[in-house]
Amino acid sequence: MKKKYLMAPGPTPVSPEVLLEMAQPIIHHRSPQFSEILAEVREGLKYLFQTKNEVLTLVATGTGGMEGSVSNLLAKGDKGLVVRGGKFGERWAQIISAYGLTPVNIDVEWGYGPDPGVIRDHLKKDSAIKAVYVQAHETSTGVKFPIQEIGAVVKEFSGVALVVDAISALGVYDIKTDDWGLDVVVSGSQKAMGLPPGLAFVSLSELALEMMARSDLPKFYFDFKKERKNLLENKGAYTSAVSLVFGLRKVLRDIKAEGLEVMFARHALLAKAARAAATALGLAMFPKDSPSETLTVFLAPEGMDAGKIVKILRDKHGVTVAGGQDALKGKIFRISHMGYVDRFDLITALSALEMTLMELGYKFEVGAGVKAAEEVFIGGAQ
Ligand SMILES: Cc1ncc(COP(=O)(O)O)c(C=O)c1O
Repeated sequence: MKKKYLMAPGPTPVSPEVLLEMAQPIIHHRSPQFSEILAEVREGLKYLFQTKNEVLTLVATGTGGMEGSVSNLLAKGDKGLVVRGGKFGERWAQIISAYGLTPVNIDVEWGYGPDPGVIRDHLKKDSAIKAVYVQAHETSTGVKFPIQEIGAVVKEFSGVALVVDAISALGVYDIKTDDWGLDVVVSGSQKAMGLPPGLAFVSLSELALEMMARSDLPKFYFDFKKERKNLLENKGAYTSAVSLVFGLRKVLRDIKAEGLEVMFARHALLAKAARAAATALGLAMFPKDSPSETLTVFLAPEGMDAGKIVKILRDKHGVTVAGGQDALKGKIFRISHMGYVDRFDLITALSALEMTLMELGYKFEVGAGVKAAEEVFIGGAQ
C-alpha cells in the first residue's frame, strides 16, 4: 500500500470536502438554481481577485484565459510587449504570434525578474504596443515578478493595458488587481484554489472593456464580450462546467472564511519551511530574484540528475513533484506548496526527498531538512 502526495505546481490536491461538493447530481446550467450559484461565485471571485470588476469563468485551462486575453484585447497591427523570463513568458509570445501579431520580447535570464524601467523604455519608443503581457510568478523558474511596480509604469502610458498571468500566484500571495492597475488578471482552477483543472478566470478592467470594443482579431469560443454579457445575467455563454462550479462555490466560501491575509500567511510559512529545509540539506535554490511562495525550486546537487530525484520521489515514495523544463531539465526540481497542502504534506515530501538523496549517495545529515522545517512550523503560528 502506498499513499500518493501531489506536490507539483498544478494540478494541486483537492480536499475531500470539495470533492464531495462536486459529486452532487448535475443541475441544468440554464436553471434558476445554477444562476444563483453563479451570482455567488461572481462575488467570491471579486474578493479573491481584489477587484470591483467582473471576473469571467471560462471552461478552459489557464492557457485559454491567456489566449483570450490576446485575441480580445489586441487589434490588427497592434503589438504586445512580452516579458519572457521563462516557459510561460514564451507562451505569451507564441499566442501573440499565432494571431499574426508581433510580440516585442523583453528577454530576461531565467531565474531573474524583469526591470520595470525596461518596460517603460519600450513603451516610450513604440506606440504600436497596446498591451504588456507578463507573469506574476514564472512557475518554470520560481521567480515572482514586480507586478505592482510594473503596474505603476504601465499606468504612465494611457491606453496601454497590463495583462498579468497570475495562474500560479493568485491566492498564494497578495495581488491587488484594482489598486495596482492590473487591467487583466488570468488565473486557473488547478492551482492555489485547490480545484481540479478545467476553469480559467479572467478579470477585466474598464480599459480592457474599451480594448475589447475595438479588437478586430478573429475569435469565437473565447469571446469575452459574449461571456461578459452572459455573466451579467448570471449565465455562461455555453454549457458551464457545472460540477467544477459547485466546487468553485465551496472553495470561494472557504477562502472568504479563511481571509486572504491568512491564506497568504499560510503559503508564506510553508515556503519558509521549505527554504529552511533546502539550506539545512545544503541544496541551493534556483531563483536569483524574489523566490515565490508558490513552490520551492531546488538545484540538484552537483553531478546529480534532477530527473532521477523526481522519478524516485514519484515511483518509490509516491510523492509527485515537478522537474525542470528546457535548459533546466535535469538541473532543478520543484516542490509546490500551493493550495490544499499543509505542513505535514510538506514534511512528508521533505522526508521522501531525504530518503531519495540518501539513495542517490548525496552526503548530508539525515533528518536535517525535516528538522529545519519543523523548527519553522513550531516558531510560526498556523
Ligand atoms: C504561470 C503559468 N502560466 C500558465 C500556465 C498554463 O496553465 P494551463 O496548463 O492551465 O493552461 C501555467 C501552468 O502551470 C502557469 O504556471
